[in-house]
Amino acid sequence: MKHFLDIENHSSAELQNLLDVAITLKKEQKVGGNAPLLKGKALAMVFQKPSLRTRVSFEMGMQHLGGHALYLSPAEIGLGKRESIADVARVLSGYVDVIMARVFEHNHILQLAEWATVPVINGLSDYSHPCQALADALTIQEEFGTLKGLNVVYVGDGNNVAVSLMHIAAKLGANFTIANPEGYGMPAHAITLGQQFAAESGSTVRLLTDPHEVVKNADVIYTDTWTSMGQEEESAKREKVFPPYQVNAALVGEANPNVIVLHCLPAHRGQEITDEVADGPHSRLFPQAENRLHAQKAILVRVLGVA
Ligand code: CP
Ligand code: NVA
Repeated sequence: MKHFLDIENHSSAELQNLLDVAITLKKEQKVGGNAPLLKGKALAMVFQKPSLRTRVSFEMGMQHLGGHALYLSPAEIGLGKRESIADVARVLSGYVDVIMARVFEHNHILQLAEWATVPVINGLSDYSHPCQALADALTIQEEFGTLKGLNVVYVGDGNNVAVSLMHIAAKLGANFTIANPEGYGMPAHAITLGQQFAAESGSTVRLLTDPHEVVKNADVIYTDTWTSMGQEEESAKREKVFPPYQVNAALVGEANPNVIVLHCLPAHRGQEITDEVADGPHSRLFPQAENRLHAQKAILVRVLGVA
């Protein structure tokens, strides 16, 4: 595995292997700590947008594995502005062993990967959030033992998180259904890929608009912000469109009794999710956030070829 840019680039066997590695590393860490598999290795973390989970989980992940992480803030690098992406990629490749980047345009992460001579990991772009999806799959697998045959439902904006979740669900055999308002669906090419992966694994991808219809028989209900980073000027308009898509206790009550609720966080409590649900018995929000750490440690050891 050279880079980790998108779920769509990895086979279901590779993704399942990453989950297995994550589970092993998680167990090891809980009973005394990980072996220093990344001793002497350095990760550059390039951020064009804010972060809590991605920054801290990658930094702690490197620390657990005996390596080192460098945080590079939006103000410092000015990717494509102060310096070209191709130059940033080649300069960083001379200093560090792996690069993780959070960018606005997906094309920027692809360019970084094209020019870097070290592995590049996508820490979120406007198109996808594959590290999040791997942590989500880990959380679902821990709950139900497998993703195969489960009904994974996404309620809200067809954004970066929805795309990566659809792709990992379809690759690992879960049925994926989204309910989004008209005009807020996922990109057409992402849907085509999702349908192809579902056909290969024997699952389904369904695209609907009614949140009540999609949560029937749901094992997992997932939601995310109505306004992603970079779309702030649309937030007033979106706040008028999205309220019927709120994940609240009434909606969760229409799903399977043992349904779990996921959210990549940060949550806008009172908008896409209520406090009652986020803090209620179906919520797995905080185990899910913790799983970013374990999933990304698996990605790091695999791209660096030490596991
Ligand atoms: N879920 C997620 O990526 O969180 P951050 O934006 O805080 O990194
Ligand atoms: N869809 C959100 C996810 C944040 C982790 C965004 O892109 O802002």
